Amino acid sequence: MCGIVGYVGPRQAADLVLDGLRRLEYRGYDSAGIVAFDPGGPLAVVKRAGKIAVLEEALKRSPLSGRVALGHTRWATHGRPSDGNAHPHLTEDGRVAIIHNGIIENYLPLRARLTAAGHTFASETDSEVLAHLIEEHDRGDLADAVRAALREVDGAFALVAARQDASELVAARATSPMVVGLGEGETFIASDVPALLPYTRRVVFLQDGDVATVRPEGVEVTDLDGRPREVTVETIDWDAEAAEKGGWPHYMIKEIYEQPAVLQNTFGGRFAEAGDDVLLDLDLDPTEFDRVVILAAGTASYAGLVGETLLERLARIPAEVEVASEFRYRHPVVNERTLAVAVSQSGETIDTLEALREAKRGGARTLGILNAKGSSIAREVDDVLYIHAGPEIGVASTKAYVAMVAAFALLAVRFGRARGTLSSDEGRAWISELRRTPGLLEEALERHEHVHPVAEALAEVRSVLYLGRGINVASAYEGALKLKEISYLHAEAYPTGEMKHGPIALIDADTPVVAVAPKGALQAKTISNLQEVRARDGRVYAIVSDNDSDTAAHADLTLRVPACRELLSPLVVAVPMQLLAYEVGLRLGRDVDQPRNLAKSVTVE
Ligand code: M6R
Repeated sequence: MCGIVGYVGPRQAADLVLDGLRRLEYRGYDSAGIVAFDPGGPLAVVKRAGKIAVLEEALKRSPLSGRVALGHTRWATHGRPSDGNAHPHLTEDGRVAIIHNGIIENYLPLRARLTAAGHTFASETDSEVLAHLIEEHDRGDLADAVRAALREVDGAFALVAARQDASELVAARATSPMVVGLGEGETFIASDVPALLPYTRRVVFLQDGDVATVRPEGVEVTDLDGRPREVTVETIDWDAEAAEKGGWPHYMIKEIYEQPAVLQNTFGGRFAEAGDDVLLDLDLDPTEFDRVVILAAGTASYAGLVGETLLERLARIPAEVEVASEFRYRHPVVNERTLAVAVSQSGETIDTLEALREAKRGGARTLGILNAKGSSIAREVDDVLYIHAGPEIGVASTKAYVAMVAAFALLAVRFGRARGTLSSDEGRAWISELRRTPGLLEEALERHEHVHPVAEALAEVRSVLYLGRGINVASAYEGALKLKEISYLHAEAYPTGEMKHGPIALIDADTPVVAVAPKGALQAKTISNLQEVRARDGRVYAIVSDNDSDTAAHADLTLRVPACRELLSPLVVAVPMQLLAYEVGLRLGRDVDQPRNLAKSVTVE
């Protein structure tokens, strides 16, 4: 949440920072701003409410120059989106500037104390206290001042500070992510890797409690007490182009179409030569656990719901998904025989990170199913299963979802083989089905235009009910989430059999049902439920398998998907559901890549 970018080096810093902000806009788009300067000269600031395009226009009228700059794109927490609440925040004398991501939990007492001491605040934000605190503690060394200020502050955050006469930037991290990019005679700092990709792949991921002094020749990192910390320089293997639109109108549609290739990457090198098992390069022993707890938020939690069923069916191990934001507050029962699986695209979702920490406190062994390397969760788990989806920029998660589901399928096969619940022949059959899935998603994508009539219909209503059974209850939840995020229509999801226990009251001619109903064991029951909808004038739009004409007969419109094993069908049905949300969003004129009120990486509780 909120994107931070900083630069020190020989080039015009504001241009590079603006470019970095554009690449991080998915982290927040309520306001944006940049400070630039040459050491010794004044700090010049331009900041505006609204998206980065608004800032860009303002910068055309008032260009910024200087070899040092820091910039910010905001997802508002304290204080509405406005020019005044936009970052960077400066002290009254204009000597110190900060940008900040996260929440300062004790900002009210700090603000009261600083006000009493004569400081004047210009914004309603929690962040601004940092600028005044740094000024108060400033005895000449900016890093010392930042360290002293941070000793007074509670919360989860990341910040970068600049002082008018200092040639360096000072960055600090307390939970929220921050990465330093090392160039040739120039150094970058950013909340996330995509901001750095066009400039360098050599990075240092900051850790909690790090204070980094960023100079053109490199970075020096200490802890909060000023003790130096040895850092590791890592190389990022993502292409710069992977984070570009590459001719597509939106990141979302580009990422939907990348899914067959993403599945190949997730599977890449992970099928054993004998073809009956999966190689995951994990230290954990699947026979040491008697329970799996899956910790995740949003779309990742729906991938977890698919994973729960796969693990139970293939490996006969009890598994349950826990909504990460609730987990640590309900005194969960976990122990050494629990495997806690944290699922996250960004690896930075604070709810998931804190849930993971709670599971660790209970003694659980931990595994991350993650996309972003070097992320906070990656550093805190015992083992990682990377999904290899590449950078996901669209705020609505698409390719990461199918890659997470695929990763769970791999895990379930591995666990099943190790625990003796899958024979060698069964392992071989599952792997041969998994190998088919990239092709099945290709086929589903070729039917893109089939969603148009359904999208036309949904764009006319205000509320939609998604229904699914068995493993596709999870698909229904994910389909409804995609639709509401992208179109702002009200969408709810239920297990199909639950409908008659209440949600059926919603059904009328204006509240259609999207039935996620690929062929499965409970098809006859699904058909009865669809009849119940139609008997009440409800329209049914059904996602059905190619080989199933029975279900199609009970729908007003159908979206056909290639047939596959029921337990792998969530991968295939994801495609029409995503395309539907996208097409409805377009018809309603929504910003599908940056839907209102959302941010890609949710680093505040
Ligand atoms: O980065 P994560 O996978 O941990 O993110 C979890 C959720 O915030 C995320 O899936 C969110 O629900 C997306 N907006 C879904 O499209």
